[in-house]
Amino acid sequence: MTPRPILLDCDPGHDDAIAILLAVSDPGIDLRAVTTVAGNSTLPNTTRNALRVLDMVGRADIPVAAGRAAPLVRELSTAAVMHGEGGLEGPLPAEPSRPVLDVPAIELIEQVLIDADEPVTLVATGPLTNMADVVSRLPHLFPKIRELVIMGGAVDLGNWTPAAEFNIWVDPHAADIVFRSARVPDEGAGGRPAADRLALTMIGLEVTHKAWLTDEHADVLRDTGRAGRFVAELLDHFVGFHQRRFGWEGGPIHDAVTIAHLIDPTLVSALPMNVQIETESSLCMGRTVADRWAVTGLPANALVGLDIDRNRFVTMLLDHVSALP
Ligand code: BDR
Ligand code: CA
Repeated sequence: MTPRPILLDCDPGHDDAIAILLAVSDPGIDLRAVTTVAGNSTLPNTTRNALRVLDMVGRADIPVAAGRAAPLVRELSTAAVMHGEGGLEGPLPAEPSRPVLDVPAIELIEQVLIDADEPVTLVATGPLTNMADVVSRLPHLFPKIRELVIMGGAVDLGNWTPAAEFNIWVDPHAADIVFRSARVPDEGAGGRPAADRLALTMIGLEVTHKAWLTDEHADVLRDTGRAGRFVAELLDHFVGFHQRRFGWEGGPIHDAVTIAHLIDPTLVSALPMNVQIETESSLCMGRTVADRWAVTGLPANALVGLDIDRNRFVTMLLDHVSALP
């Protein structure tokens, strides 16, 4: 089987960093490029962090391009409280070994799609600002996109506001553009195949809040090599934050679930739903209004994750990270 080509758009971020590591550690995935967006931290920081994480695993061959520095309409709000001022509190060398590419993310995405001999899977683990650019500027390349898998949103409660999840809340207008042009992926979901729509899978908080690691997992990883030690030190910060802030035993590794879902599609259970994005109400800004019980009669436009087999997720993550050089 040839590895599945993917492009990861992210805002590292502790869990974004772990998503990168999971992607490069699986033989079934061919990480063709990484693009960055402002979210957890400013764009220079998320870009620098993506380069540093790839350095750490010896993958400075994977091209990295920076995308949007701010949401489409709203001011940028970052998650420094969770990820630190630089976006990735932790053990990496301060500076990457190479500069970011001198082309904007949208041009790298375009080139990756044009060059690919089979449709590419886009994975987005930050605000959807760059993905809105894909929708507005590259609709002619939709046939070259196998699907878009995002970490974002929630059917029920939010995490950044009572109503909204962080990635969607940061740039609800971009998310609105993406969800309006989306469709359910074909495979097994009874969706509406259409070349002018993006097949969309949403991995939201119902799933990722179950995908947590603890201090014990950090300790298991700490002695398994460079990548294991790096993830252990990320977890020291990230799990600690969730213990202090929410009183949880562990920290949810939100973004890694997107990649885990690609590695093993039986891990996450999901249903097709209509999802709309709130862009006006100040109380509910960024809410993913997911029609769980099909009360609107509107057609489903996304496959929405609802649950995950946590034990298998944890095993996959530990096995993959500890196998990295
Ligand atoms: C999302 O918000 C960010 O802080 C994380 O990296 C993740 O993508 C979870 O709500
Ligand atoms: Ca993220």
